[in-house]
Amino acid sequence: MWQKLKEFSRKDPLIFTLILAVIIVVGGYGSLQMMHATSKPEFCKTCHPKEAVEVRGEYYSFRKGIHSEVGVGCLDCHGAPGIQGYLDAHVVAGMRSLYHEIFTSEEDVIKHLTEYGTDPKAAAHGASLDSCVFCHSDDFNRKIRRNTMIKVLGEFRPIDDVVNPEYREKFGRPDIMKEGPIGVNPDHLKHYQAGVTCFDCHLGIGHAGVKNHKPKMETCFKCHDENRNVAKVPANDNCAVCHTMQKGVQQGTYSKSVKGDAWYMADLQCSDCHADTATLPTPETCASCHDASYSDIMKETQSAYVQKLAQAKSTRDKYAAQIKGMPAGKLAVYNEMKNILRILENDGSKGIHNPEYFDMMFDKVTELATAIDTWTPPVEKVEEHAQQKKHEEPKEEAKPAGPVNTAEDMAMLEGSETINLAERHVPAPTKPAVIFDHKGHAERVACADCHSEPGVLKFEVKEVKGTKNVFHDELCIKCHKERKAKTSCNTCHKK
Ligand code: HEC
Ligand code: HEC
Ligand code: HEC
Ligand code: HEC
Ligand code: HEC
Ligand code: HEC
Ligand code: HEC
Ligand code: HEC
Ligand code: HEC
Ligand code: HEC
Ligand code: HEC
Repeated sequence: MWQKLKEFSRKDPLIFTLILAVIIVVGGYGSLQMMHATSKPEFCKTCHPKEAVEVRGEYYSFRKGIHSEVGVGCLDCHGAPGIQGYLDAHVVAGMRSLYHEIFTSEEDVIKHLTEYGTDPKAAAHGASLDSCVFCHSDDFNRKIRRNTMIKVLGEFRPIDDVVNPEYREKFGRPDIMKEGPIGVNPDHLKHYQAGVTCFDCHLGIGHAGVKNHKPKMETCFKCHDENRNVAKVPANDNCAVCHTMQKGVQQGTYSKSVKGDAWYMADLQCSDCHADTATLPTPETCASCHDASYSDIMKETQSAYVQKLAQAKSTRDKYAAQIKGMPAGKLAVYNEMKNILRILENDGSKGIHNPEYFDMMFDKVTELATAIDTWTPPVEKVEEHAQQKKHEEPKEEAKPAGPVNTAEDMAMLEGSETINLAERHVPAPTKPAVIFDHKGHAERVACADCHSEPGVLKFEVKEVKGTKNVFHDELCIKCHKERKAKTSCNTCHKK
């Protein structure tokens, strides 16, 4: 059809334009209905129809991005918030598009569109910065709502109903101007104030056609190199200033909902393992400080991690399919799970930066899954509930009501109330010796949990060396995991 119109318009441009003007004034401008119909992404598709991630394929790439998944439409980004922004996007930009569609050669259209898609300055020409901050920050949202007429009659666009913090919290997303994102933290507010736009870093957020769209490290470095002399920007080799996530993971403090311990390699600099930004550590890297067996530790840690991650992802995806219409309280639990998975997926070391901390996150995912399944709306009489809980609590905390082992058995512990296990079994210790509280354990768990008969352990102890040893795997850590007792290294290896 456009082909025909184009032919017609070329033959008789004046008449064509007149007819068009009449159609628009009578049919379009006058009718809100028409406006709404032409706001829908499906309408834009008529002229942006390609089935590929490239110019003219904007509908297709939009569909593959994260925003379309949550109901954000073309005009939510391509028009500023409020009535004025809506009309501008519709009438002014709409007319311009129509004009170009008819009078501009396809070659030039492609040239223009390519520029809008690849140059941050030109991108700002098409997409609205105000709309980005409207949805992604609380202060800007409030300010724009106060100073701008948002809507009068009826429903215009999804963005008109965005009120923060409620909106972004529905997705478990941070206020980017106040909190760091999950991942590399650039300090959004400082960049905004320095005139760096969203597109300088997030170019492609609209149409790269991927869900997890991150800025590239080269983007940061290029601009910082250029700005070195005029602004205070971090040095490229100061990894941890930007990589707050990897640093926080090493410290066991990164996740808001899972508190862990510092990894015993937390004091290593990033550059101790990462020779530079471009090369990744390999199993040989471990062997450069440790003996060769540590290469296997890396491989084993990573392959175990990959399996656990696959499991956790499928748990999340199961609930992701159920979030439509989920009550707010339950949704908050889901979002907590979603954000833990974002850490697990984006850290990138497949477990190496802090295996224990990651394990706690995997456990938390399972725990949250149960919490979603058993979630009930909060009851009105909160106080009564709390009191009930108070009654139950001491019971849970208390040690088992009666002794676990007979007095006769307990008597056998005489002389071995505590045992220095390192002295007995570790010829070349690298960690502080474990002084085992034999009696303390016998008060809590049965002799038979550890012994096949008194004095004989359930397994044979050969020389103990490295973290893959029989005490860890067959006794201490094995049971601690099952009974949810502490498993961080310094629980047992006390300095
Ligand atoms: C009649 C065909 C047509 C329709 C319908 C159409 N566009 Fe376009 N659009 C174009 C053409 C042609 C261009 C290229 C303009 C140029 O060469 O500068 C364009 C350019 C754009 C640009 C680039 C920046 C600008 O303002 O020029 C954006 C953004 C855009 N369109 C968004 C949309 C949205 C959103 C819709 C749906 C509400 C839509 N278009 C519907 C033909 C159309
Ligand atoms: C999340 C906000 C967002 C949504 C939603 C969005 N866009 Fe965009 N769009 C952008 C941004 C930002 C750019 C600049 C290039 C980039 O970052 O991808 C852009 C660029 C464009 C361009 C310029 C050429 C190009 O290919 O980059 C066109 C045309 C366009 N969008 C059309 C659309 C249409 C049509 C829709 C709906 C089907 C849509 N956009 C939905 C943010 C958005
Ligand atoms: C200086 C570069 C830079 C600028 C400018 C920038 N961002 Fe970011 N943004 C980032 C980085 C880096 C991340 C984290 C990406 C990662 O590691 O996953 C991020 C993450 C985000 C996230 C995800 C937050 C989360 O964890 O859920 C949002 C939303 C976001 N940015 C929006 C914006 C908006 C809106 C603008 C414009 C006001 C903007 N950004 C400007 C670099 C930038
Ligand atoms: C109408 C509200 C709205 C507008 C406008 C909007 N976003 Fe978003 N954006 C969202 C929501 C909601 C999410 C999170 C979706 C989710 O978690 O499933 C999101 C996610 C993101 C992410 C995270 C991507 C990821 O994979 O983690 C970035 C980055 C982002 N937006 C940047 C932008 C930029 C830049 C603009 C302006 C061109 C913009 N957004 C416009 C609502 C919006
Ligand atoms: C368009 C140029 C530009 C780009 C692209 C850019 N930056 Fe910056 N960055 C700056 C400027 C300018 C400053 C100094 C801001 C100030 O101190 O006011 C800065 C400062 C910083 C700071 C120090 C903030 C502080 O608290 O002092 C960090 C961290 C940072 N940038 C991270 C990033 C990351 C991460 C990226 C890539 C995702 C990035 N930057 C991309 C221009 C840029
Ligand atoms: C100016 C901020 C900044 C600094 C400094 C920085 N990075 Fe990055 N780095 C990023 C961003 C942004 C990404 C891409 C987003 C992501 O992966 O979360 C990234 C990604 C990476 C990746 C993933 C692969 C890639 O290239 O995308 C590695 C590996 C990496 N960085 C290592 C390092 C190391 C090692 C250092 C210190 C020598 C370092 N980075 C310093 C911002 C920075
Ligand atoms: C004990 C060694 C070690 C230390 C210390 C270390 N890393 Fe890593 N890192 C690794 C290993 C191993 C990988 C995974 C490499 C692979 O699987 O190919 C990795 C992966 C990464 C990745 C992901 C790369 C990608 O392709 O996605 C980033 C980013 C990263 N590290 C940043 C850091 C930063 C920043 C620090 C300091 C805060 C740090 N690392 C400290 C060993 C280390
Ligand atoms: C720059 C040298 C260095 C590199 C490279 C390095 N480590 Fe370590 N590693 C250390 C130091 C220092 C400790 C702390 C020893 C302590 O506190 O007892 C340690 C401790 C450990 C421990 C626990 C204690 C022990 O001796 O068993 C394990 C396990 C370990 N590293 C595994 C790895 C793995 C896997 C890699 C490769 C991804 C690696 N290391 C790379 C220096 C390094
Ligand atoms: C949590 C595990 C655990 C529990 C429970 C436990 N033990 Fe032990 N027991 C050990 C370990 C470890 C050793 C040291 C074995 C070695 O060094 O070869 C040990 C050693 C002994 C020995 C030999 C004494 C020595 O100095 O080597 C006797 C006898 C013994 N246990 C009896 C008992 C009896 C009886 C109970 C129940 C009342 C009990 N144990 C409960 C772990 C346990
Ligand atoms: C059969 C189960 C079991 C085995 C085997 C076991 N433990 Fe325990 N351990 C426990 C339980 C239960 C606790 C108490 C946890 C609590 O109070 O929260 C505990 C507590 C501890 C504590 C005190 C932790 C704290 O909260 O400060 C240490 C230290 C400890 N165990 C060391 C060891 C060592 C070393 C071994 C191996 C020789 C070992 N355990 C084997 C079950 C076990
Ligand atoms: C529940 C108790 C427990 C926990 C938790 C534990 N270990 Fe051990 N570990 C032992 C026992 C018992 C031995 C053998 C006796 C000894 O070494 O004192 C041992 C031995 C070792 C050895 C070999 C002996 C040596 O000194 O080189 C290493 C290495 C080691 N552990 C590292 C770790 C690391 C790293 C962690 C944290 C990831 C950890 N352990 C957590 C109980 C524990």
